Amino acid sequence: MTILITGGAGYIGSHACVTFLEAGHDVVVVDNLANAREESLRRVARITGKSLAFEQADIRDGAAMERILRDHGCTAVVHFAGLKVVGESLRDPLAYYDVNVTGTQRLLSAMERAGVHQLIFSSSANIYGPPQILPVPESHPAAPMSPYGRTKRIAEHLLNDLSASDPKWRFAILRYFNPVGAHESGLIGENPLDVPQNLCPFIAQVASGRREKLMVYGNDYETRDGTGLRDYIHVVDLVEGHLKAYEALQTGADATRCFTVNLGTGTGYTVLEMVRAFERATNRPIPFEIAPRRDGDVGECYAETQKAADLIDWRARFGLDDMCRDAWNWVCKNPTGFED
Ligand code: NAD
Ligand code: WQD
Repeated sequence: MTILITGGAGYIGSHACVTFLEAGHDVVVVDNLANAREESLRRVARITGKSLAFEQADIRDGAAMERILRDHGCTAVVHFAGLKVVGESLRDPLAYYDVNVTGTQRLLSAMERAGVHQLIFSSSANIYGPPQILPVPESHPAAPMSPYGRTKRIAEHLLNDLSASDPKWRFAILRYFNPVGAHESGLIGENPLDVPQNLCPFIAQVASGRREKLMVYGNDYETRDGTGLRDYIHVVDLVEGHLKAYEALQTGADATRCFTVNLGTGTGYTVLEMVRAFERATNRPIPFEIAPRRDGDVGECYAETQKAADLIDWRARFGLDDMCRDAWNWVCKNPTGFED
């Protein structure tokens, strides 16, 4: 089967390419390289010993998407392409609605014209807003607090509406918690082109000496040590969840015609626990300073994972130490990302 992976040159997408190639699928990547380097795809080919097709295109270009789907005989789409920085979405909501909503709609229209009716969608735990129930179940009310989260929620509505309109469509909506880590080879990983906003890549840059210290945003939350607690999930576990979701779509069962599942471990760790785990993985001290809370942050957020286990037979395998080891291995082997 030929799978179209949008955003396949990016952080999560490149790991998904490895997983789908290793499972025996043919892969075509569409990416406009807005936040990625083509080198990541050469690394995917090195890891797997397999070739994959690359089309530099924008998901908003419906005609290009239709041509690519037809030319490669694609049967399903794994849709990672999008913009993902919460703070940037507050400053430039139009860009976020354009890529994440209009882009997804144009992609779906192109799929309709090309006769492709299966899609796996990258959603986010961000759509839940402040957790009212912990662990957070998929039935938790959606109350996204940023334009980014709202674009993901709108795309979810679009998929649900389309599925209700015609049973030929089959969709998996996957809500990621906090993806971290890298492929064990150290050949692909997260490559922030700017100052990292997320905890794990920031700590990695402190460990490597690129940044002086970590600012810990708040130590007065109601958590074990007062710092924010999150459900970090190894990116390789995360992309294996996509393969399981893809396989569930193929069964034709009614229960998996259009479904939504959380992808998390079900276990949360605090910022200081993440710092200690990184110190163990790197054998280096991670200097930090306590700073005020960051606007829009919640104290704790971790996933209810039973539905993913029941519906797609998926559970995370890796723990916090594995995530830190693999993130550090990637940073050590690629101190300037894919630039070399
Ligand atoms: P990423 O930025 O590394 O990957 C996104 C890819 O999409 C990039 O390669 C980028 O060049 C490409 N892209 C962006 N706009 C495009 C367009 N208009 N046309 C074609 N390609 C385009 O991000 P990631 O961390 O790999 O995230 C992948 C997906 O997962 C995103 O949709 C993101 O919202 C979602 N997600 C990510 C996280 C996270 O913490 N990383 C959490 C939840 C959900
Ligand atoms: C984790 C914890 C911070 C940086 C975001 C998006 C979410 C999803 C994943 C896309 C929090 C603390 C962080 C730092 C810190 N992305 N922190 N110092 O906020 O849970 O989720 O990324 O969908 O939508 O909102 O992740 O890694 O930014 O923060 O103390 O320099 O680390 O306060 O407690 P977050 P994060």
